Amino acid sequence: MEIIIAQSAGFCFGVNKAINLVNQLLDETDEKIYTIGPIIHNEQVVGKLKSRGLCVVNDSSCIKSGHVVIRTHGVAKRQYEDIKNNKEMKFSDATCPYVKKIHKLVAQKNRLGKQVIIIGDRNHPEVQGVNGWADDDAIIVNEKVDVDRLNKSEKPVCVVCQTTITREKWDTLSKLISEKFTDVEFFNTICNATDTRQNEASNIASNVDMMLVIGSSKSSNTHKLYEICSKYCPSTYKIETVGDLPSVDIKKIKKIGITAGASTPDWLIKEVTDKMEELNKQENEMDIKEAFENSIVSLQSGQIVKGKIIGFNNAEVFVDLGYKSDGIISMEQYSDDPNFDPQTDIKIGEEIDVYINRVDDKEGNVYLSKRKVDRSKNWKKVEEAFENKTPIEVKIAEVVKGGVLAKIQGVRIFIPASHVSDTFVKDLNEYLNKTISIKIIEYNKRKKRLVGSRKVVLEEEKEKMANEVWDSIEVGKEYDGTVKGLTDFGAFVDIGGVDGLIHVSELSWSRIKHPSEVLNVNDTVKVRVLDFDREKGRISLGYRKTEDDPWFNAEEKYKVGNIVKGKVVRLVPFGTFVNLDDNIDGLVHISQISNVRIAKPSDVLKVGQEVEAKVTELDLEKKKIGLSIKEVSPIDPIVEELPNLPPKPERKKKDEPVVEHKEDFNLTIGDMINDLNNLDSEDDNTEESGLDEKQE
Ligand code: F3S
Repeated sequence: MEIIIAQSAGFCFGVNKAINLVNQLLDETDEKIYTIGPIIHNEQVVGKLKSRGLCVVNDSSCIKSGHVVIRTHGVAKRQYEDIKNNKEMKFSDATCPYVKKIHKLVAQKNRLGKQVIIIGDRNHPEVQGVNGWADDDAIIVNEKVDVDRLNKSEKPVCVVCQTTITREKWDTLSKLISEKFTDVEFFNTICNATDTRQNEASNIASNVDMMLVIGSSKSSNTHKLYEICSKYCPSTYKIETVGDLPSVDIKKIKKIGITAGASTPDWLIKEVTDKMEELNKQENEMDIKEAFENSIVSLQSGQIVKGKIIGFNNAEVFVDLGYKSDGIISMEQYSDDPNFDPQTDIKIGEEIDVYINRVDDKEGNVYLSKRKVDRSKNWKKVEEAFENKTPIEVKIAEVVKGGVLAKIQGVRIFIPASHVSDTFVKDLNEYLNKTISIKIIEYNKRKKRLVGSRKVVLEEEKEKMANEVWDSIEVGKEYDGTVKGLTDFGAFVDIGGVDGLIHVSELSWSRIKHPSEVLNVNDTVKVRVLDFDREKGRISLGYRKTEDDPWFNAEEKYKVGNIVKGKVVRLVPFGTFVNLDDNIDGLVHISQISNVRIAKPSDVLKVGQEVEAKVTELDLEKKKIGLSIKEVSPIDPIVEELPNLPPKPERKKKDEPVVEHKEDFNLTIGDMINDLNNLDSEDDNTEESGLDEKQE
């Protein structure tokens, strides 16, 4: 509640001056101090002065000696002169200068024969005093009806007013008077202090929920203030003391205004404002207390409530629940996580959900459990995963008979060995402490039985990936794959959820007996699609690269006429095979070795010998190259001088084939092959029959 106190509230200049005068006299003189009537209209102030020795009388005639103080309202001229002329007593004039000024004015106008009209309360001492200075001949009007009753007169009129009437009254009645009299002088004698006080009071009253006007019931200006404030604030109360404060519901009051009449001392205003502030404070405290009481959480065992972590030690975690005492979670009740570390996992200030185990034991503590809430949440999570068939992340905590156990903070899920992977797992221990994605395939909350499967997840992932592969596959497209298995006829490669086959012939440009000569299981390989059939689920893959083909670019390297170097790798009766670069063998027919006739190639050549030869023929389709040594540097046999022995009769070896060398050296590859076939037909089992392997 806001309390607004009018700055002009309390003693006016005139009252203040009079009270100070009396107090001074009471302090400084032993004489009896009198006032004729109360010096101001305030019983509390007068009472205090009386307690100090002030004597209040109704008439000066009863005063025989002492010191008389004329009060602020002033007295009639006759009374004033009686006091002044009484030699038996002293006097001090505390008449307010504003009032004194009116006395002089009406006395002067009265002497001039003017009719004085006083607007004010005829019973008020000030008005009576003013009238006395007009020889008690003034007309006193206080209401409209009073003016109406006046008889019209040609006599000049002088209009003054009581210092404390409202401006409104002055305006209204002076207007009526002006209509009634032709020769009128108006003197607005409303005191400035009164004007200011009334204006301020009306401003405050129009902006507050309740208005207090402090002052005596006999105080005219206080009553005027009350009238003014009541116009602007329906809840306006006139009080004399703090004991008169109205009994209202102060909670409904946001603003209260306080003003006071000119006779109201500051200490009385302070008493009232202090009381209001005290009531306001009490009300706030009541509000705070009520708010506090309302804020106190009602806790019951079994509830799940939110709390804020405010601290922890080695054994317990402390939680603010908004309850009169904090909650306690023992470390065992905090988490099911086997890797739980209080130093890193407990965050001061973090809001958590807790289960109330017990409320208010004899020591007034509240014991909580966080892990119960976690378990409940995780059961719900698992239940939702089961119903929605969505995968969940779990950590393998234990290898048990027939499978493994996964745990999600308090919830145990059994995964059979056959469901740990989509392939056979030899050692389940390799999955210990690993986090994997599973689907719940069996859920029984009553028996608390949960069965999970990673295999289902993997198969679904594979199916999804396979569909993506089938949707985008095309001949020539390359994939990074993983070798999943090897057989005699090729290697199976996973290219992303679907397997393709690299036929053994597509593994290498050279002849291999088994795919394991090129690849191992789990090798990562780059393959390209040679062909595919989605309906049959078959994909043929190529692995060997065109640029690795030894015959790649052979038409340039082994163009007819080119001179090439090579090494003798095999000797056969009809010629010799010379290995050129890149694992290609060329054939030098026996007739193309020497310029002279030789019986067999081994007469002039041996395996491993390096030779130079000219390309005489190139057949890319059959992948055959014909060479001629003699066109580059013919190799002739060395003839040794022998002693003159009788010549041996020529004898044909039984096992040696006889090859008729053609005198025409321009043999074709076809001729050579014929020779080769002749040789093979006679000697199929010789080791040197590997010509086909090399050539084809
Ligand atoms: Fe004088 Fe005005 Fe006060 S007339 S006594 S100053 S209210």
